[in-house]
Amino acid sequence: MTADQPAYLDATLPVADRVADLLERMTLEEKVGQMMQLDARGDVDSHVLATRVGSILHASPEKLRLAHDLVERTRLRIPLLVGEDAIHGHSFWVGATIFPTQLGMAASWDPALVERVARATAVEAAATGVHWTFSPVLCIARDLRWGRVDETFGEDPYLIGELASAMVRGYQGDGLTDPTAVLATAKHFAGYSETQGGRDASEADISRRKLRSWFLPPFERVAREGCRTFMLGYQTMDGVPITVNEWLLDEVLRGEWGYTGTLVTDWDNVGRMVWEQKVQPDHTHAAAAAVKAGNDMVMTTPQFYEGALDAVARGLLAEKELDAAVARILTLKFELGLFEDPRRPDVARQRAVIGSAAHAALNLEVARRSLVLLRNDGTLPLAGGLQAPGAGRAVAPAGAAPRTVAVVGPLADDAQTQLGDWAGNSGQADWLPDGQPREMITTVLDGLRAHVPETWTVTHARGADILELVPDPEGDTFPDGQPRPPIGLPSAPDEAQIAEAVAAARAADYVVAVVGDRIELVGEGRSTATLELLGGQVALLEALAATGTPLVVVLLASKPLVLPKAVEDAAALVWAANPGMQGGRALAELLLGLVEPSGRLPISFARHAGQQPTYYNQVRGQHGTRYADLTQSPAFVFGEGLSYTTVEYADLRLLQDGYGPDGVVRAEVTLRNTGARPARETVQVYVSDLVTSASWADQELKAYRQVDVAPGQAVVVPLELPVAACTIVDAAGRRVVEPGQFELRVGPSSRAEQLLSARFVVEG
Ligand code: NOJ
Repeated sequence: MTADQPAYLDATLPVADRVADLLERMTLEEKVGQMMQLDARGDVDSHVLATRVGSILHASPEKLRLAHDLVERTRLRIPLLVGEDAIHGHSFWVGATIFPTQLGMAASWDPALVERVARATAVEAAATGVHWTFSPVLCIARDLRWGRVDETFGEDPYLIGELASAMVRGYQGDGLTDPTAVLATAKHFAGYSETQGGRDASEADISRRKLRSWFLPPFERVAREGCRTFMLGYQTMDGVPITVNEWLLDEVLRGEWGYTGTLVTDWDNVGRMVWEQKVQPDHTHAAAAAVKAGNDMVMTTPQFYEGALDAVARGLLAEKELDAAVARILTLKFELGLFEDPRRPDVARQRAVIGSAAHAALNLEVARRSLVLLRNDGTLPLAGGLQAPGAGRAVAPAGAAPRTVAVVGPLADDAQTQLGDWAGNSGQADWLPDGQPREMITTVLDGLRAHVPETWTVTHARGADILELVPDPEGDTFPDGQPRPPIGLPSAPDEAQIAEAVAAARAADYVVAVVGDRIELVGEGRSTATLELLGGQVALLEALAATGTPLVVVLLASKPLVLPKAVEDAAALVWAANPGMQGGRALAELLLGLVEPSGRLPISFARHAGQQPTYYNQVRGQHGTRYADLTQSPAFVFGEGLSYTTVEYADLRLLQDGYGPDGVVRAEVTLRNTGARPARETVQVYVSDLVTSASWADQELKAYRQVDVAPGQAVVVPLELPVAACTIVDAAGRRVVEPGQFELRVGPSSRAEQLLSARFVVEG
């Protein structure tokens, strides 16, 4: 370092000293700019040179290079933080590895696998100059109509905590000095999924006790484990936008949990208080309120700049009130080492890692594990006894006649839809209009063609459409100027399409119908009023069922849908939440028996949209257990999923009956594989606190173990659970273990009739 070099550029100094030095040199305008994150699809010259933004998001490769070059022309040359939604793979990089959606990954119930996915994503994203991913989502999916169920890990706080924590570890790698690390974001803090009627970002009518009971625990876990950033939800909660919710931000997050990380608003949260929620008269007041509430980075509110300056000029905000936020942002930049190396895109590294064979293999592994077999009358695997020669084609059993498989349905060969939201051309990025390269994606049709035995025949007919797109009658743009996407009108069943599919089914030994939803029915602002299979799909399924050819339904749906009778009666049903680039291959392998089904539902399936909510851990106490016109029980419950074998649970045994508050409950259960194929069993451990001081869920998942059991084998599975985990939140909002009787319930799903139980006592 030379004598005239400012202290903040001296990498040998402690970060705090460098931050203090730089802060002192910054003008008010530079501080305000530093707190801003603007959309790089806009005017990057202006963002960097005029606003001097601290961060950009949604930058195409060209815009990213340009932005870095422009920083060199700014007075202090403060490097940019580059953020992106790399949420199930590096979503918007052409040729990146796109994994199953979060909900799909959740069906694996495997934190180690999810951690590897996040690591691979970080490695790909970091090579392209991304420093920060807005992932994972820790929202609890409680209303299936909500458009963002696919982005969650499902409905259970414990499972969400396990998987989110793994994902954060994967992204952040060995710490910020690791050049392949990216900052993780816990979002959307908190209660965003608690919508009104599933409508996205509507007021979350939620008590503090309810938040503490189910919504906050996963966030608390990752806060304490060092997730470096938190994103604040869009919505108001009990009348107060999260962005200015002092109870949540100051008292709980910064106070009780001692969180020292960085807060980023969601998209235009600050402006939204003015134009949407109308709780601030103008951007001046909104900016002042946001800064005072402790927001650090303000995402895409261009008016924050003038608003904050005006607020200072009018005495609504002191300049020093910006300093804490700016210091936190600068700290991240120093800790990432961006002043020494801004981590620009590295073309050589990109060639080595993006879409690499190793990542494709991992993608296939997680896609296989994301599939949930929900029904099977023995039709699957399609020709039992097939042997897999390595990863190639299935081999038909000797002497068996060749078979024909008709692959039908609107999603049988729809590569981009299979990737789901936040990928390729799902709508958030404008630089890859054609989505991800077709040749990187295997659809179900591709998979079956490639993996059926040599002598078999695969035929194909589309059979139905789902939607037609028409312009939104409310106009081309939203009030904030963002483009308003076209709306989807369900397509009418098409007789000719159905007839073609029926003919294919009649001529086949099996018909595989690939149905589900489309991107227009998924995502922000795209909640659905119904949960039905739309367009011509139900008519198609009914017609296929009537042929008598064994019907295998592959549900390629972003979230649980309500399934018609034709699916209830089908020979088999497999759910694949958007399963990513390798999804078609994974599905084909599963149908053919080249891999074993092992996924378990991270979320319940309703029988009717009117049954909402259907999550398993509902609070005890209501009249009766059914609607007058329908059972209340879901079609499929949390934790459910079949194998190609049968596994019996027996002999649940507690090693001890009474425990002190610091004790560890130890138990054993015996699993016996009574079928002919191997099983990967997810042994689920629920706890019921039999009498509680305040009403509580009848049972909650508290632990689980995944165990491989070979055909004919019996294994004794040891289970353990700290008494400290057997908590409720009492009426005063305190999380406590209440002494008394508890029931340990162990089994293959949350369904009461499948659980073994044993009682224990917690002494006071
Ligand atoms: C809005 C979404 O709610 C959030 O999840 C996302 O990270 C940001 N937009 C940035 O794209």
